[in-house]
Amino acid sequence: MDSRIPELQRRILELKKKRRALIVAHNYQPLEIQQIADFVGDSLQLARKCAADKRHDIIVFAGVRFMAEMAAVLSNMPVYIPAPDTLCPLAGYVTASKIRIKKRKYPGMPVVVYVNTTAEAKSECDVVCTSGNAVEVVQSLGVDTVLFGPDKNLADHVRRATGIRVIDIEPKGHCYVHQQFDVAQIQLLREEHPDAVVIAHPECPLEVQEAADMVGSTGMMAKTVAESPAKEFILATEIGMVEQLQAAHPDKVIIPAYNGARCIQMKKNSLEKILRVLEDLPQENRVTVPDELVPRVRLALRRMSKAPSAALSVPVPRSS
Ligand code: 13P
Ligand code: SF4
Repeated sequence: MDSRIPELQRRILELKKKRRALIVAHNYQPLEIQQIADFVGDSLQLARKCAADKRHDIIVFAGVRFMAEMAAVLSNMPVYIPAPDTLCPLAGYVTASKIRIKKRKYPGMPVVVYVNTTAEAKSECDVVCTSGNAVEVVQSLGVDTVLFGPDKNLADHVRRATGIRVIDIEPKGHCYVHQQFDVAQIQLLREEHPDAVVIAHPECPLEVQEAADMVGSTGMMAKTVAESPAKEFILATEIGMVEQLQAAHPDKVIIPAYNGARCIQMKKNSLEKILRVLEDLPQENRVTVPDELVPRVRLALRRMSKAPSAALSVPVPRSS
C-alpha cells in the first residue's frame, strides 16, 4: 500500500467535515477512495443518495462524468468530480442527433436510454434506466417495442428478461471493459470452483449472461454476496467490485471472471485529486448541465424513479 494513503485520507476526512461535503463513490472506485466515502454504490443507488441528501453543502462524486451530471441534475448542491476527464466511452455511442434520427424513423415509440449517456442524449429520451432497473423501467412502459441505447448487451438482458422488442439506437454500443469476458473463462473457473455462484453484469455479452447464474448491477452483486449462504462467487464485472467485496467479506472467496477487466476512466480519480477539490473547489472540477437541458433530463430521471422499484437481486435463470 502507498504509505501516503492514511495521511491523505485523514486530511480528506478533516476537510470533508469543514466543507460539509458528501463524498459518494461508485463501486469501481479504488478501495482507498471507497474507504473515505460516505456512500458507495451502483449508479441507481448513487442517484438516489444524491437526490435525497439534505444534510450537506456540496457533493464530491468519485465516479465517471455522466454519474456526476446525474447528481447535479437531481440535487440542489454544487457537484464536483475529482478527475474532470473521466468520460465513459460507452456514453459516446449515442448522441442526441442519433436519437432524433431514430425517433423520426419510429415516430411515437418510447425511447429508453441507459444512464451511461451524456446529458444531451438524455434530454432526447422519455425515460432513463440503469443496469439495476432496466428491466423494470422497460416493463413499466406497458408497450411491446422500445428504442433503447447505447448498450447492446444491456438491451439483450432486457429482451431476455421481458420478451419485449428492443430496437437498438446504436447496435455497436458496448462497454470495452465488460466486452472482454468470455464463456470459456467462466467454464474453466466453474470447473475449478464447482460450488461458486457466477454473477455477470448486464453489460457483458449475451452468451456470458447466459453462462452465469445471475445477472445484475454492481449493487445487486454486493447484496447477493452479503446475503447468500454461498462461500464462493465468480464475478464478471470490473475489478474494483471484486476488490471491494473481497475486502468486505474475508470469509468468502470472490473470484474475478477475468482479472484484466479494469475501467481506466474510473481509476482516474485519486485521493490527491479529492483533496485538491476539497481544498480549492476548483471551477474546472465543478460538474454542471446546461440550463436548457436540465428540465428534460430531470423529467427523464424522475420517470425512472417512478418505475417500480428495481429489485436489487433480479436473478435471470441460466438457460442451459
Ligand atoms: P452499475 O450501475 O451496475 O454500477 O454499473 C455502472 C457501470 O458503469 C457499469 O460499467
Ligand atoms: Fe463506462 Fe464500462 Fe467504465 Fe462502466 S466500466 S464506466 S460502462 S467504460
